[in-house]
Amino acid sequence: MSYYDTTIYWHAYTKMNRTKIIYITAVSAILAIFILSSLQVVSQGKEIFLSEGCADCHSFKGHGGETAPDLTAVGERRSTLWIMSQIKDPKSHNPDSRMPEFGHLSMFERYAIAHYLKG
Ligand code: HEC
Repeated sequence: MSYYDTTIYWHAYTKMNRTKIIYITAVSAILAIFILSSLQVVSQGKEIFLSEGCADCHSFKGHGGETAPDLTAVGERRSTLWIMSQIKDPKSHNPDSRMPEFGHLSMFERYAIAHYLKG
């Protein structure tokens, strides 16, 4: 193997390595942003509950509407997943449900609300 060949191989190796490093760094950065923004959303349960108008119908800890069941103790009756699916599709639990669907909310937003109601 000539010096020239060796240089080419070395160059190819370092180049490949750099690409890998850039790739791994980019994937980690995207993952970190994804995890941090999910955590950020999960801490917003109360805000989402209020901004989505849940409290127009439901009371929670003494505040809110009277037309739907009080949610103060819902965490004792229902699991987190049950609450999340109630928010997404209330008809899955009760075909005659009068509660509107909140299918536009992401899984994290629904988790945030359920987490808030459980706390
Ligand atoms: C228009 C009124 C209305 C709005 C707005 C509403 N709900 Fe409801 N919700 C109801 C009614 C009525 C029920 C009773 C069961 C049924 O009809 O499905 C209910 C049931 C529930 C239950 C089950 C309670 C239990 O004791 O089993 C949960 C949890 C719940 N709603 C959460 C929410 C959340 C979270 C939001 C906001 C994203 C919301 N609701 C918005 C009317 C509403």
